[in-house]
Amino acid sequence: MTNGREQWSSKFGFILAAAGSAVGLGNIWKFPHMAGENGGGAFTLIYLICILVVGLPILLAEFTLGRRTQASPVGAFSALSDGSRWKWLGMLGVASAFVILSFYGVIGGWTIKYSLLALAGSFSDIASSAGGAQAEFDQFVANPVEPIFWHMIFMGLTVLIILKGVKGGIEKWSKALMPILLGILIVLVIRGVTLDGAMEGIRFLFSPKWGDLTTEGVVLALGHSFFTISLGMGTMITYGSYLRKDQDLLRAGLWVIFIDTAIALLAGVAIFTAVFALGQNPAGGPGLIFVVLPTIFPQMPGGAVFGFLFFALLFVAALTSAISILEVVIAYFIDEKQWSRTQATLAFGGIITMLGIFVSLSFGEYNVLKSFGEMNFFSLMDNMSSKYMLPIGGFLTAVFVLTRWGVPEFLKELQTGAAGMKIPLIPAIAVFGFAGLVVAYILLYEVFKVMFGAG
Ligand code: TRP
Repeated sequence: MTNGREQWSSKFGFILAAAGSAVGLGNIWKFPHMAGENGGGAFTLIYLICILVVGLPILLAEFTLGRRTQASPVGAFSALSDGSRWKWLGMLGVASAFVILSFYGVIGGWTIKYSLLALAGSFSDIASSAGGAQAEFDQFVANPVEPIFWHMIFMGLTVLIILKGVKGGIEKWSKALMPILLGILIVLVIRGVTLDGAMEGIRFLFSPKWGDLTTEGVVLALGHSFFTISLGMGTMITYGSYLRKDQDLLRAGLWVIFIDTAIALLAGVAIFTAVFALGQNPAGGPGLIFVVLPTIFPQMPGGAVFGFLFFALLFVAALTSAISILEVVIAYFIDEKQWSRTQATLAFGGIITMLGIFVSLSFGEYNVLKSFGEMNFFSLMDNMSSKYMLPIGGFLTAVFVLTRWGVPEFLKELQTGAAGMKIPLIPAIAVFGFAGLVVAYILLYEVFKVMFGAG
């Protein structure tokens, strides 16, 4: 069955590729501002619990589904359910990939622009100009040409890597870029913690302020734990389908989660030490990165270099995630529709890039989707994916393992390649049941909020 299917060249390569998918804008852009607005350490703690209790089981479900079937999501679900309706769960994943990548690519473009701004020393002009960083940012994203240009560059790079395939593209680039990412992050953490007043930032991130944590915050933490390890869309099924039988998947899963969490926390440390040391507001919202940080870098010695490194870090993280999102779509067309990799990549890379153009335009006067009320196309895509599509995908994946594939089969696959590991059945069922319930809770909470309006 594995005839001709591409494969990872090593166990280590798979772990880095999966970690590259997990570590992305979610870790460096989303996590810090979410923690900033929702009780700092309290949010961090809930998020860690969610990752272990909900994230790990579903991550392992995805790895095993992919490796067992040697197929991307649509093929995987239909192979294990005799071609029943479960294949639509795979289709939902393919659809989510379009939605997520359309806005992900736009922000990816911003990271390129901002690294160049930093390198040119422009942050100090921005910080001292009238209206400052906020005005600069608003003007940039509303521009109908420039952000689209950077978006196209970002998507072009994503397409180039995917064209080279699993080993020569995804794995090779993850192996090159992940160490760079870690190196940059360590430099930034050292810079952050050696600033005067850095301790405040660390305390903020790790000491819980339970009063600031709302139900909404808990729901966010749950949803984010999905997004940050790339779950609910079949990314990890697809990456799992390129695996050989000799890899210990539990160990790989733990590594991915460890790397992902460590990088989110380190990014939090790098950002909040600087934010507090230089007297800014930690609850800067989504603009924390693109608005607050550009005013902070010029105030520290070596600011231009550190500013550049920071946005380069964000760019690298976004790129290794974007390739994993595009690969889900490409693998579907290769596996199920017998397209060649080149055809599929050029066609769908192109289509998603075009969708992204609308997302980018929605920040300016060419917002073609004014009808979505206060939401622009960007928030629509972001909300639709992280609040609904991914949790639904993750929930149904848990249901699939519990009711269709069966936990015993899951365990059999999990134990393949893990010499001597024996996981008892009943606790495993309980873990999946619990994970499913927790995700169902996020979904219901969102649905009730929309229907009966808590906001
Ligand atoms: N995990 C990435 C991040 O934290 C984003 C990502 C990549 C993703 N692939 C995904 C999110 C699949 C959801 C589904 O930025």
